[in-house]
Amino acid sequence: MHTTLNPGEVEKAGLVEQAQDPTAPEGLLFHHAIEGKPLATPWQVAVLRAALLAQQPLPDDGLLLDCACGSGIQLAAYASSLHRPVLGVELEPSRAHAAAFNLQTVAAHHAAHQEAWFAESRIVAGDGTDAEGVLRASGAGHALTFLHLDPARPRNSRTHALDEMQPPLHEVLEAWAPHFSEQPAFVLDLSPRLTDGQRGEVEAMVDRLWPGLERTWEWTSRGRGRVDRLALWAGLVAENSVLRRFVRVPPTLGQDPLILRTGEPPEALSVHLQPPKRGEFVTLVDAALVESGLVASWLPTVSKDHAFRWAVLEGRRPQVHHDHALRLSEQQQAMVQATGRVVDLLTHDLDESTIDNVVERALEHKFCSVKLRLDLDPALQPVLQGSLDRQLRRRHGTREGFLTRHPNGHTLLLCVSAFDPVEDGSR
Ligand SMILES: C[S@@+](CC[C@H](N)C(=O)[O-])C[C@H]1O[C@@H](n2cnc3c(N)ncnc32)[C@H](O)[C@@H]1O
Repeated sequence: MHTTLNPGEVEKAGLVEQAQDPTAPEGLLFHHAIEGKPLATPWQVAVLRAALLAQQPLPDDGLLLDCACGSGIQLAAYASSLHRPVLGVELEPSRAHAAAFNLQTVAAHHAAHQEAWFAESRIVAGDGTDAEGVLRASGAGHALTFLHLDPARPRNSRTHALDEMQPPLHEVLEAWAPHFSEQPAFVLDLSPRLTDGQRGEVEAMVDRLWPGLERTWEWTSRGRGRVDRLALWAGLVAENSVLRRFVRVPPTLGQDPLILRTGEPPEALSVHLQPPKRGEFVTLVDAALVESGLVASWLPTVSKDHAFRWAVLEGRRPQVHHDHALRLSEQQQAMVQATGRVVDLLTHDLDESTIDNVVERALEHKFCSVKLRLDLDPALQPVLQGSLDRQLRRRHGTREGFLTRHPNGHTLLLCVSAFDPVEDGSR
């Protein structure tokens, strides 16, 4: 049973979960239902994705569909950025109501109540895998131009087997495949934790329906030490000759994202552990950039080094050693968590009994600030960082830096940050 909602007519009554998305402009408040908030796409990510979609050659008319639209955040970003009506489908009726109201909120934000993209958009409460039922209920006469799917994933699951996603990918693709007007065009917004093997399974699923269909895999990072989103753009919305794309979401709304692209298969990287040395450079790279396989081609574009010694490839803080400073524009600095020159090697671990030794060595090297960039017990981290901040602040140091751990396990690397203006001047 499918029920169609007109976003221009839905009322706020009954919607109680409201939240300011920290990535959305102040005052643009979204509603959610049945704990829909953690499922929702952050507004900034949704808008960046809509801008990328706008660059692809979609036919001018036809249906833009999100067949598991949740609170409708991505849907509203597509509609308002592309100025095209959209159709959202959501199984949970109260969340479908929230999606319709959020579309209204976004239209109000853009003063666009009268525009066709809003007036003609609809939300269907029902099953997004029942294409005929959705089309009948919505009265959408057009053929499908573009399909978006961001399935719900089980919470607390570390593995995210493909068949745990709801709605299941294969059911959605099979149901909607006959409805594409021209070539298929879709974005599958998948779990960032998919393994390479699971990505292969997704590719095989696509190939069964459309053998050899063009596709671009996209890794998105917000610089938090992990992949934020992993998506497959396929058919007409795949980027021409681009197999993999890395998108670094900028720190603030309105700034341009940094995007890297390649049509080449990923270069295999391996760890070459060498004893750490004073004077060499250490960079903690964005973990998602490493996972995307684009780091090997990016590093030589920002360095005069030809050789990079990888010390850590896995986890939240991939670590690479090299001989010269990276040459990073302000925008490119977002690709690394920290980068700098090793000025001291401390051969002890870090805890409350050794923090004063770190302070002493930091003062000898004239640091005014040292950030901890290593895995620590989350309860201990603020204690140690607070102690460092307090003890370095009131002294006469001028350099900024960071402390990380060499994977040999018994050496801490005290580094002066390459972003530090004092260091820049002395190079
Ligand atoms: C991850 S959320 C989508 C969030 C959305 N991208 C946003 O920006 O708010 C996935 C949604 O799929 C819905 N869902 C699950 N099975 C479905 C089905 N068969 N048909 C339609 N929606 C379904 C879930 O209720 C959930 O709200």
